Amino acid sequence: MRTVDDLLDSGVAGRTVLLRADLNVPLGDGSDSGTITDDGRIRAALPTLQALQDAGARVVVTAHLGRPEGLPDPASSLAPVATRLGELLGAEVAAATDVVGDSARSTVRGLGDGDIAMLENVRFDPRETSKDQAERAALADELVELVGTDAAFVSDGFGVVHREQASVVDVAVRLPAHAGRLVRREVEALRTLTGDPDRPYVVVLGGSKVSDKLAVIESLLPRVDTLLIGGGMCFTFLAAQGHAVGSSLLERGMIETCKGLLEAPGGKIALPSDVVIASEFAADADTRTVPADDVPDGWTGLDIGPDTVQRFASSVTAAATTFWNGPMGVFEMSPFAAGTRGVAQAIADSTAFTVVGGGDSAAAVRALGIDESCFSHISTGGGASLEFLEGKPLPGLAVLGE
Ligand code: 3PG
Repeated sequence: MRTVDDLLDSGVAGRTVLLRADLNVPLGDGSDSGTITDDGRIRAALPTLQALQDAGARVVVTAHLGRPEGLPDPASSLAPVATRLGELLGAEVAAATDVVGDSARSTVRGLGDGDIAMLENVRFDPRETSKDQAERAALADELVELVGTDAAFVSDGFGVVHREQASVVDVAVRLPAHAGRLVRREVEALRTLTGDPDRPYVVVLGGSKVSDKLAVIESLLPRVDTLLIGGGMCFTFLAAQGHAVGSSLLERGMIETCKGLLEAPGGKIALPSDVVIASEFAADADTRTVPADDVPDGWTGLDIGPDTVQRFASSVTAAATTFWNGPMGVFEMSPFAAGTRGVAQAIADSTAFTVVGGGDSAAAVRALGIDESCFSHISTGGGASLEFLEGKPLPGLAVLGE
């Protein structure tokens, strides 16, 4: 695959570069409304952007925020992201107020060498996510017209490479396309996991729904030595073992599937032995720690318990390779953060090759104040990293020749 470093070697001073980034950052609600609560994805975009800026390219960033469903929506504007990016770069980032309209055109025209501009949320245009290839092609043509046919394309939004979308795939066949440094780093780290990882290979999965993780569980199970399951989804597995789970999250339709997974050869799945339960879903609820097979009626499991943290921690401490995706509990509320903190810290402290996958787990690392540099790699892609591990073809990588 051609990389941005090949592009830099060929000289980009004065050349326009259209760069697809994944700047889909979480925004606060209530009194925090519109505030970026975790700028990890913006920081992760910096190495490629700074290299292009230093080389004198005229960079036009295209990105999405949320799922505005093809209509402009002020709540999903990229304006605050452009401001934050400018702060991190120490340079103004001009923000267009549309995707390929008058504002985008005049913003691109105003770029000097080494300047960076950002187009408005590309998903404000319904053609971006259209299933109709001709519609996506029409948007891609307009993006190319905007930056000029002499421009180059850099794909650095790893979090969207699993999406067949205009700014990810269709543009890449219209301009000379290059993988950005973030995409390169992500692919290298994840390839270590799908290749021949050092053993023991331990995977820690959390998050709320089994159905979201089923494909990755099925694909990982034959390849890992141990699969530790926490988070809301552990309750469907506990129910599959015949245990009462009270009012905890339960996907009834997945119980039989979970039974099958638990019976798979090797007995590799480990479930919590204790859980923290709450009288209601609230930070100030009454809480108790109970055996995982004994959640009383009316109580909700919101975190793994201390015995489980210890068991999971021993497992990752002994691992040579660890992949972690999904929080162990509702870490955003302090009474239910200990499970995620304990497991994350054990992964961080281990000497293994460690990969954190997914927006929520990466956000948890930062929110819990765990040193990010202690992990071998923190992926910016939630769905993308899981689909990569599942071995699914990712259109945004395939188009780059991956
Ligand atoms: C993500 O948040 O995982 C990426 O930005 C992709 O977003 P999407 O799931 O809305 O396509």
